[in-house]
Amino acid sequence: MPEIAQPFRFGSNAGQPVTRRDGIAKVTGAAAFAADTAPAGLLHALCAPAAIARGRVTHLDIARAESHPGVVRVLTPANRPFLEGDPAEKPTMFSFRIEVLQDDSVRYAGQPIAMVLAETPEAAAEGVRLLNPQYAAETPRVTLDEEAAYPVEPGGFGRPAATLHGDIEAAHGAATRALDVTYTTAPQYHNAMETHAVVAEWTGDRLHLALPSQALAMSCAAYAWFFGIPVENVTLSSPYLGGGFGSKAIPTGPQVLAILAARVLGRPVKLMLPRAQMFGPTGHRGATRQRLRLGIDDDFALTALDHDSLSETSSFDDFHEPAANASQGLYAAQALRSTHRGVRLDVGTPGPMRAPGEASGSAALECAMDEMAEQAGLDPLAFRLLNYAETEPGTGRPYSSKALRDCYRLGAERFGWAHRPLTPRQMRDAEGMLVGWGMGTALFPAPMFQAQARATLNPDGTALVETAAADMGQGAWTALAQIAADALGLPLEKVTFHSGHSSLPDGGVAGGSGHTATAGGALHAAGTDVIRQLAEIATADPASPLHGAGNARVAARDGQLFLVDDETRAEAFEAILARHGGQSLTGGGSAARPPEDAQRHAMSSHGAVFAEVKVDPELCQVRVTRLVGAFAAGRIINPRLADSQLYGGMIWGIGMALHEEAHHDPRTGRVLNADLAGYHVPVNADVTGLEVLTVHEEDPHVNILGIKGVGEIGVTGTVGAIGNAIWHATGKRIRRFPIRIEDLL
Ligand code: MOS
Repeated sequence: MPEIAQPFRFGSNAGQPVTRRDGIAKVTGAAAFAADTAPAGLLHALCAPAAIARGRVTHLDIARAESHPGVVRVLTPANRPFLEGDPAEKPTMFSFRIEVLQDDSVRYAGQPIAMVLAETPEAAAEGVRLLNPQYAAETPRVTLDEEAAYPVEPGGFGRPAATLHGDIEAAHGAATRALDVTYTTAPQYHNAMETHAVVAEWTGDRLHLALPSQALAMSCAAYAWFFGIPVENVTLSSPYLGGGFGSKAIPTGPQVLAILAARVLGRPVKLMLPRAQMFGPTGHRGATRQRLRLGIDDDFALTALDHDSLSETSSFDDFHEPAANASQGLYAAQALRSTHRGVRLDVGTPGPMRAPGEASGSAALECAMDEMAEQAGLDPLAFRLLNYAETEPGTGRPYSSKALRDCYRLGAERFGWAHRPLTPRQMRDAEGMLVGWGMGTALFPAPMFQAQARATLNPDGTALVETAAADMGQGAWTALAQIAADALGLPLEKVTFHSGHSSLPDGGVAGGSGHTATAGGALHAAGTDVIRQLAEIATADPASPLHGAGNARVAARDGQLFLVDDETRAEAFEAILARHGGQSLTGGGSAARPPEDAQRHAMSSHGAVFAEVKVDPELCQVRVTRLVGAFAAGRIINPRLADSQLYGGMIWGIGMALHEEAHHDPRTGRVLNADLAGYHVPVNADVTGLEVLTVHEEDPHVNILGIKGVGEIGVTGTVGAIGNAIWHATGKRIRRFPIRIEDLL
């Protein structure tokens, strides 16, 4: 059997800044999203959302709604059809307990209390209006309440549930300088451009779904479970998502209700949530209150790092923001503790949202580090370098790779950090604006999930590669095809990539920044499998120049097989296959991280973000004028797309630092700003001078491709960097995010 020399190389494809292969389809409107699906006989669904956050629905005017022309049915708890799977249980690891009209109770504002099915969207909207719900309302709990807190262990991607080493109390008590500060972060909502949608159609007990999903196979398993049908009876089409950010990894109550309605009424049903209904049943990032206690000795070494995070969950399920995890992996504190506490509120269940845990946690940690550096009279970067962790604090595991020092150096040089005055309020620009510089360390774990893929080499030298991956806009269609093309030794143009449909091999979860590593690993394995088969054919074929190569190493490049040690012995794929009956060759592969690999090394992406803000000394308006992020995330498959991910993450960081906050009315529990006019996100005018640098890392441990992931880390260092820059500009230490004008007055 020939030996295949197909370690992952930067062939002609990977490493290239290829533009999105689906870009033209998207900008011309040719790309069909879930809600573009319009089967004949389509009914339109709309949920009636609860206007209170806690209590009961006492009356719905169902007769009035059903008598409106075009309204076909109103589903309520009184007539909700049978659902096989108990919504109080969770069919998969990416599931939450869902609200599907189980009873008349209301557990959060925006919870579906009825669903109207109608011939037109307008009739559905009028039907919802005519329901005129009446309630027996109770006082809702919508703010974090220390009194009601209880300990939780939320876990997180690739991190232990809790960390404790050393005597934290003694270390904090004995510190030369000590800090005890509390930071808060606001509730946030994902607000993907495309709201949650589904077009559901039943034929007998077969279910066809057009539904944007970050986890196709897992979603199918969940829907099969809810409806009591075999998983192979579910087909799910999700070629494109208009953003996801974690919220589309998990089946939601409104989507399950629409599928149920389609079954009961025997007609296809479409639901697309209005923006306002995205604030409730589809997850959010819970608020946190984080207490950080730090201590240093005479040499400025961290002797104590204690991070406790209080966060919310709903009254009926458990998801806590694992914010204190951010302190587990970064600084070499002699005593280290991270703990979490939870509170039940009358809100929808929170869920993972871009950089869950680390986004909120690093905001607090990086500001606390800045405060400690200030106390010590040290430059914040110098203080971090003094406490640089050579092995993972807490576990002592070596890092699979960690080019964080390079990120610090590169980012600082590009930013001009060396010119930063130590004390605040020292810099003004020509217009008299206060100028401040701050920095933060970025980190996010590099987890992997499980994926499978298939590759087929055609007799004409083209190939088809297939995996049910999810492209939320991050460029999976492109980066994954680049990996597959290199595994097959083909130029990208010769590779057709099929994805986004559940009939394809399971592409795993687009989450945790692990999709490229996981689905890419499976595609690499599938391509390598095809080349192995082709090499067997060629080396056994007396007519091939590769005949008899035996254990000589065979590799593929530019549509040819060749011997690594004698490149004159080469043959085109087409020629080999032509003599072999002109048939195609199909191979398969899978990827997952062996548990022993995960135990042996700590695996994270790292980075350093440097921010410049300008603050109007009278109006206190804050502008982020420069952001430089330097990141090390293993091998970068497509620099253009990776930079875009990092830019996007950093822009999210601007939003978290300055804009995003859902306000609950304390009387009703409703989100007062449940739209994009009131829920502020950064727009172009808020984003100037953004720069991303990447540090190349060779990581032989993380996975065969050497990929760590870039989807989430950009958020993490940025929030703290901006908070610290605001302090540096104004001398005011604001310990709540987002930082508002009124905080600085
Ligand atoms: Mo991401 S919040 O892991 O989809």
